[in-house]
Amino acid sequence: MRLLDVQDLHVEFAARGLDNRVRVARALNGVSFTVDAGEIVGLVGETGAGKSLTALAAMGLLRAPARIPQGGIRFEGGDILAMSDRQLEKIRGRRMAMVVQSPLTSLDPLKRVGDQLVRMQRVHGTASGAAARERAEAMLAAVRIPDPKRRMQAWPHELSGGMAQRVLIAMALINEPALVIADEPTTGLDVTVQAQVLDTLRDLVLARNLGALVITHDLGVVAHYCQRVAVMFAGRIVEDGPVAEVFARPAHPYTQALIASTPGRIARIGYTVTGGTPPDLYALPDGCLYRDRCPRATTACLAPPPRVALDDSHGAACHYAERAA
Ligand SMILES: Nc1ncnc2c1ncn2[C@@H]1O[C@H](COP(=O)(O)OP(=O)(O)OP(=O)(O)O)[C@@H](O)[C@H]1O
Ligand code: SF4
Ligand SMILES: [Mg+2]
Repeated sequence: MRLLDVQDLHVEFAARGLDNRVRVARALNGVSFTVDAGEIVGLVGETGAGKSLTALAAMGLLRAPARIPQGGIRFEGGDILAMSDRQLEKIRGRRMAMVVQSPLTSLDPLKRVGDQLVRMQRVHGTASGAAARERAEAMLAAVRIPDPKRRMQAWPHELSGGMAQRVLIAMALINEPALVIADEPTTGLDVTVQAQVLDTLRDLVLARNLGALVITHDLGVVAHYCQRVAVMFAGRIVEDGPVAEVFARPAHPYTQALIASTPGRIARIGYTVTGGTPPDLYALPDGCLYRDRCPRATTACLAPPPRVALDDSHGAACHYAERAA
């Protein structure tokens, strides 16, 4: 079942400079991807590629000065871009939930863990009183927090980084949403804890037949936890497909550079690794946005490349995608 359907999404920011001229940063330039129930989709790309912006847009959280001049976002068939704030508030935390990077800023420092989990349920009317406490405790157990009864009483500052991240996952899943969006959910945790937290998230998502969008810099995370991947560059999905297929036969030069620059399981990807800097969002070139960094660029690349389908499920936005594959 289709949960999230993002099509040709554009996001721009207009800002007035010191010279009083309005300049526009084109941060998303035609993002298209889907997430179905029962699958984990990885969204990967270098810093500034637009991953978090895409997540915020999907959650209906973009606010001025961000503008959406073009594109569509549908969640469970509903049009996110046409919904009122009240409608969105009903969906967020209930049908779709987000897990972010820094648990200690996302948890309320003045409320015990259990009370925060209970509150999440009360706000959305899913449970209250003793039933909500019982569910909260069960959810802590589900995210593999030892001694959940005692942890219900814990203050956020008493939790380790890994525990706090587990509590955030519990908060996201407590109302049984259909879709979870996790934005760099384990950045900053050490490798072992990172793997344990991601294992927990994956197991819950698959056992409950949820859909998940996992945003990461880490191709190892994609390889290990995702079924499909969307590779993002300069606000565009440049390649998408099943993980095994994209890793075995990457068709876009940027994907090829990412994979070539990833030594081992947990390489971190920054733009310095693949060489070159991201294009200036205030002055994007015509044609392929990867042109300045692409070893294969020709004059044909002065025209924007469409997504070329390599098979039913794998595609790349490159004029020479077929040839590369
Ligand atoms: N208010 C704003 N005004 C102008 N540009 C913005 C604004 N907010 C975000 N951007 C730009 O949008 C682009 C995409 O940002 P985003 O945070 O989505 O990147 P990201 O892929 O999540 O990067 P990271 O891996 O570092 O988290 C960035 O270049 C950023 O500078
Ligand atoms: S369209 Fe041209 S510049 Fe863009 S990635 Fe393909 S070969 Fe490189
Ligand atoms: Mg981000």
